[in-house]
Amino acid sequence: MDPLQAKQQMTLAEFRSLRDFIYVKSGIFFSESKQYFLENRLSKRMADLKLKTYSDYLSMLQGFQGPVELKHLFVEITTNETSFWRNPPQIEAFQNIVLPEAARLARERGQSRLRIWSAACSSGEEPYTLAMICQDLKDSILRGLSVEILGTDISEKVLAQAGDAVYNSYTLRNLTPEQLLRHFVPLGKDLFQVKPDVRRFVSLRHFNLVDYPAYRQLGTFDVIFCRNVLIYFDEAVKAQVLKGFHDLLHSRAHMLVGHSESIHAFNTGFELLHFSKAMGYRKRT
Ligand SMILES: C[S@@+](CC[C@H](N)C(=O)[O-])C[C@H]1O[C@@H](n2cnc3c(N)ncnc32)[C@H](O)[C@@H]1O
Repeated sequence: MDPLQAKQQMTLAEFRSLRDFIYVKSGIFFSESKQYFLENRLSKRMADLKLKTYSDYLSMLQGFQGPVELKHLFVEITTNETSFWRNPPQIEAFQNIVLPEAARLARERGQSRLRIWSAACSSGEEPYTLAMICQDLKDSILRGLSVEILGTDISEKVLAQAGDAVYNSYTLRNLTPEQLLRHFVPLGKDLFQVKPDVRRFVSLRHFNLVDYPAYRQLGTFDVIFCRNVLIYFDEAVKAQVLKGFHDLLHSRAHMLVGHSESIHAFNTGFELLHFSKAMGYRKRT
């Protein structure tokens, strides 16, 4: 067997150096129990690069090829699991409570545009779920308002998938047959593409949530979704990210995080809201 094909052993020192590097660059924190996970995720990349040790890989990340390799690193280390209509009670709260309230507040402020940010949107299921709802409500509660849904992620691979907007039935499993018929074009072979009138609401861009100075380039928002990514961050990063969201949200605007992601320790600027079988937050002032 080619020795470069054999999986390299990661030493504890290498794990710690890589873990610290990844934390600084992405906010993702791997505890020591995740050494095997990291080793698994990086071993194929190292074989592709014909690198012998994880120290060599770290040197590459820190060298002149670093900025390019970092994109590959983000693809390898992120967990991108998602689906349409994920956590149905929360999506229904968005549809029935959050969106009507955001539209009302926007009109009160004299806005003609509503902006929603799906921060950490993975392969697009979340922003397109929100876009389907906006398409269904465009002539009722959204009448007279244009809507932009910005989907961002650190992984360029999932953003490219989001751009294609093609999905299989597994990730569509929470949708009703009517929703599937209304908002998707069947492509055959168990593949469905989001229709153009839904896609037009969504714009996609690369954004790293730990790039704090860049937040202000995104503009202001009426709703922020940040679901199932805060769990990868430690408390210091969570606090900074939540401050970034707080700064970009309009007064009284909503923020929805994953159902297992309590932010009680940091939420001084937010109030907790209880919806039916779901929770959300709202900027206090
Ligand atoms: C589990 S997915 C969640 C997708 C979607 N929000 C949902 O709840 O279904 C987590 C996403 O967070 C992204 N992510 C991780 N760290 C990030 C960072 N620092 N900045 C932006 N996105 C990040 C990952 O690439 C991944 O696509």
